[in-house]
Amino acid sequence: MQGLNRVFAIAALAVLPGLPLAQQAADAVAPEAATGQDAIWPGLSDAARTALRAKAAGRPVEAQDWMIAAANPLAVEAGAKVLEQGGTAADAMVAVQAVLGLVEPQSSGLGGGAFLIWYDAATGQVTTLDGRETAPLSVTPQLFQDDAGEPLKFFDAVVGGLSVGTPGTPALLAEAQGRWGNRPWPGLFTDAIRLAESGFKVSPRLAALVAGDRDRLARFDATAGYFLPGGAPVEAGQILRNPAYAEVLKSISDQGVAVFYSGEVARDVTQVVQTAPGNPGQLSPLDLAIYRVIERDPVCVDYRGYDVCGMGPPSSGGLAVGQILGLLRPYDLAALGPENSESWRLIGDASRLAFADRGRYVADSDFLPVPIEGMVDSEYLNNRSKLLGGDDALPEVAPGDPTFDHALNWADDEAIEFPSTSHISIVDGYGNAMSMTTTIENAFGSRLMVRGFLLNNELTDFSFRTHRDGRPIANAVAPGKRPRSSMAPTIVLKDGKPVLVIGSPGGSRIIGYVAEAIIAHIDWGMDVQQAVAMGHLVNRFGTYDVEEGSPAATLAAPLEAMGYEVKARALNSGLHAIAIGEGLRGGADPRREGIAIGR
Ligand code: GLY
Repeated sequence: MQGLNRVFAIAALAVLPGLPLAQQAADAVAPEAATGQDAIWPGLSDAARTALRAKAAGRPVEAQDWMIAAANPLAVEAGAKVLEQGGTAADAMVAVQAVLGLVEPQSSGLGGGAFLIWYDAATGQVTTLDGRETAPLSVTPQLFQDDAGEPLKFFDAVVGGLSVGTPGTPALLAEAQGRWGNRPWPGLFTDAIRLAESGFKVSPRLAALVAGDRDRLARFDATAGYFLPGGAPVEAGQILRNPAYAEVLKSISDQGVAVFYSGEVARDVTQVVQTAPGNPGQLSPLDLAIYRVIERDPVCVDYRGYDVCGMGPPSSGGLAVGQILGLLRPYDLAALGPENSESWRLIGDASRLAFADRGRYVADSDFLPVPIEGMVDSEYLNNRSKLLGGDDALPEVAPGDPTFDHALNWADDEAIEFPSTSHISIVDGYGNAMSMTTTIENAFGSRLMVRGFLLNNELTDFSFRTHRDGRPIANAVAPGKRPRSSMAPTIVLKDGKPVLVIGSPGGSRIIGYVAEAIIAHIDWGMDVQQAVAMGHLVNRFGTYDVEEGSPAATLAAPLEAMGYEVKARALNSGLHAIAIGEGLRGGADPRREGIAIGR
C-alpha cells in the first residue's frame, strides 16, 4: 500500500481495528452506500449489488469489455443495459443522464448544462463538446447588482428566474448521441420514463438535501408540490413519481430535442422564468431557439509522460488541472509520497498559482481573448514552478504573465461557485471513452421547476461585478456569453490511448479533486477506488481545506506549521473514474451514492 492511503489507514487504525488498510482508508470517509442498501435500492441487478459491496470495501470494480461509473445506482444500471446491448458510451450517457435528472434532480438534468470529452477509438481523436448554458440576449452588465451597483447577495441572485441560463444539456445529449451513438434514440429513455411513471425510492442524499433546502424549495408552487408534498420534505425510501418528467422525456424521445428548444417545452420554460415570483428572469424563446452546442479543442498537458486532456474555456477545469500538474512536473511527488506535508505544500501552492491565473484570465473565449496556449506553455509553467522552490507556504500568490498576442488588462474575478453537479465516466465495448460533468449549478439550481425538471442557476457563475479598480473582469456577464465553469471532465492518455477517465462535482474544488486523484493514481500508484476515496486537501485561494473526519485531517498541523491557514470541513466530491489497462477498473466516490458497473 502506498502513500496517503497508508498514512490515512494508520490514522484510522484506532477506530477500525481488524480491517485491511485500504478498506480503512476508504471507510474513513463514511461511504453512504454501505448502509441499508437493500432498503434504499430494492431490485438492483447483481452487478449493481456487487458494485455497492466493492465500494463499501474500498475495492475497484473490475471488468474486461465496458465500464460505467456515475452518481446513482439506478442511473448506472440504465447505462449498463445500453452498453450490454452493444450501445456506445454516447448512447449509455443519454440513458444515464435521463435517469439522473429524475433520481438526482438536485445536481443535473434537462434544465442544466454540461461539458463532455470523448476519445474515439476508431480515429484516436479527442473531442470536447461545450453544452454550457448561455446568458439571455437581453441581459445587461448589471444583472446581479442592486440599484447602487453593488453585487446582490448570492442566494438573492440564485433563487428565481434571474439566474437561469439557456439549458444546454438536452442539445448536448442529441449532439453526442448523433455523432457517436449507434442505438435508436427513443430506446435510450425507456428506463427513465418507466421510473418516472412507476416511481423511484427517494435516496438518503436527496432526502437530506431537500430537508436542508426546504425554505427555498417552498418558494415556488411547482417545486414545493414535488419536493414538499403536503408541506413536508420527501423522505428517504418514499416512492416519488414524476409523470410530468415522463411526459417531457416521451416528447424528446419521439420528436427529438427540437421540442425542448422551439416547441411547447421552450414556451413553458421561458414562461416560468419570466414570471418567477419575486425574482423574474429574462430567458426568452429566442434564447432557446438559437442555442448551439460548440465543439472546442481539448486542452492537453503532459504530465510524467501522460497526456492529461480536459475542457477548455468557458470551463477553467482543463486549464487549471493542467496548470497544477504542469507546475508540479519538476518535483518528485512519487519520492515524497502522499503522507508528506511537503507534497501537499507543493500541490496546494501549485493550485493557488493556477487559481490566480484562472481568476484573472479565464472566461468564455468566444467573447474575449484567453491565453489558452500561453497558460499551459512549458516554459511559462517551468518558470512559474520555481516559485514553489521554498520550504513554506507562499505568502502571496499573483497571476502570471503568459505569452499572448493581446494585452491582458483584466481585473480578478469574484464569482462564487457552490458545490453541486454530477459526473459520468464511461468506457464502451468498442474502446471509446467518455467523461462528462453535468450540472444545474447550486443544489436544486434556481429552485424553479417546470414539467418535472429543475432549471439551472448557472448565470451566477459569472462575476457579479463587471469591473474592479477601473479594469474589466473577464468573466463578466454579457448577452449570449457562457459563464466560466470549473467542471473538469478529463481523459488521461498514454501513447495516444486512454488510461484514465475521471471527473467530479464540487464547484471550484472540482479542480483540486480531479488533480489530486490523478496524482494519487499516477505518482502514488493508488488504484482508482483508492484515488477517489483518498481524503481531500484542497487549496484554491490560500486557506487549506482538509476533509474533516478523514485521515487527511492529520496533515492539518504540519500544514499550519508551514504557514497555511487550515480549515477542516466536509469536502463532498463525487469522483467517478475508470482506469484502462489490462482490463477496466472502476471507482465510485464513497462520499456519494454512485457505483461503477462493468462486464
Ligand atoms: N456550476 C459549477 C461549474 O460549472 O463549475
